Amino acid sequence: MSDKKRLLTGDRPTGKLHLGHLVGSINNRVRLQDEYQSFFLIADLHMLTTKNSPEDIAQIDKNAHDMILDQIAAGIDPDKVTFYLQSGIPEIHEMYTLFQSLVTVARLERLPSLKDMARDAGIEMPLALLGYPVLQAADILCVRGDLVPVGKDNIAHVEITREIARRFNFLYGETLPVPEGMIGEVPTLVGTDGQAKMSKSLNNTIYLSDSPDEVNKKVRGMYTDPNRVSADVPGTVEGNPVFIYHDAFNPNKAEVEDLKTRYRAGKVGDVEVKQKLAAAINNLLAPMHERRAEYEDPGLIEEILYHGTLVAREETQQTLYAIKKAMGLAGVWNRIRRKVEKRQKNLAKPGE
Ligand code: TRP
Repeated sequence: MSDKKRLLTGDRPTGKLHLGHLVGSINNRVRLQDEYQSFFLIADLHMLTTKNSPEDIAQIDKNAHDMILDQIAAGIDPDKVTFYLQSGIPEIHEMYTLFQSLVTVARLERLPSLKDMARDAGIEMPLALLGYPVLQAADILCVRGDLVPVGKDNIAHVEITREIARRFNFLYGETLPVPEGMIGEVPTLVGTDGQAKMSKSLNNTIYLSDSPDEVNKKVRGMYTDPNRVSADVPGTVEGNPVFIYHDAFNPNKAEVEDLKTRYRAGKVGDVEVKQKLAAAINNLLAPMHERRAEYEDPGLIEEILYHGTLVAREETQQTLYAIKKAMGLAGVWNRIRRKVEKRQKNLAKPGE
């Protein structure tokens, strides 16, 4: 493997990627894939912390496929990066167990992100959810990641990884890199309905795989300034989802400025603002649809994930060995085995 610094990030296989993922993390992945040796994880074990029904589990294959395809469509080059499946690397759990003694329950209980996830899933905090950031530390450190592009709500988890890495190095000697988190250009994108976050479960998403018709329809139904009852009423641009999207997805800054000026003056209708937004989003997605079409070959995405998982597993095994060696744990079992073998040999020699 190259001696470039490493980038690692992942997603739970809960469904297709949307515009929130794009500006929150995927654009960073695309931009940095040449500079960093990059690893992209399908975090199926993380999904189990809140969604573990047989129906949810049965969706993993398809969701993993769709999410890898979405990333490739967005510009990730599968020949350069490594996609890997968390449950395909059992050593990750082993590392997770070893890290559990490096963080306190109180530290994890203080994280608002975990409480929010339990609340959103309508469940009481399972042990697995409390351990979520520790498992995430194993994901990041198993391939010795240096940089971790994540959504804003995950920065606190990268912080836990940093604490675990530092604590490990302090206790057992310099072994693990202390990674940096990185948030996207729009850390949390509002939903089309104006709710704080674009999210599949809130049904307020625009998917990277949406057709132009779907985009037009979703944009037409977007929430805007609720006080603006007609086109000649001056409207509010700040915090208005339609303009937040224009800023994020319309590269024609002059057009956006013109629309804002006219909107504030009550000189443009929502229809025009939305039509221009839909056109900009469709322009952004068009090349993605083209790249997507090149990967329709059945089994190709699975092959990419399969080979990537083997590569990441190899890396994980090396890191796990380094971890156990630093802890003095690597030899314990072998020493016991050798003692037993020696004893068996001696017992087998009669009359001595
Ligand atoms: N926690 C991430 C999410 O919200 C998924 C994830 C799992 C992850 N392991 C990771 C992100 C490691 C970055 C690094 O979906």
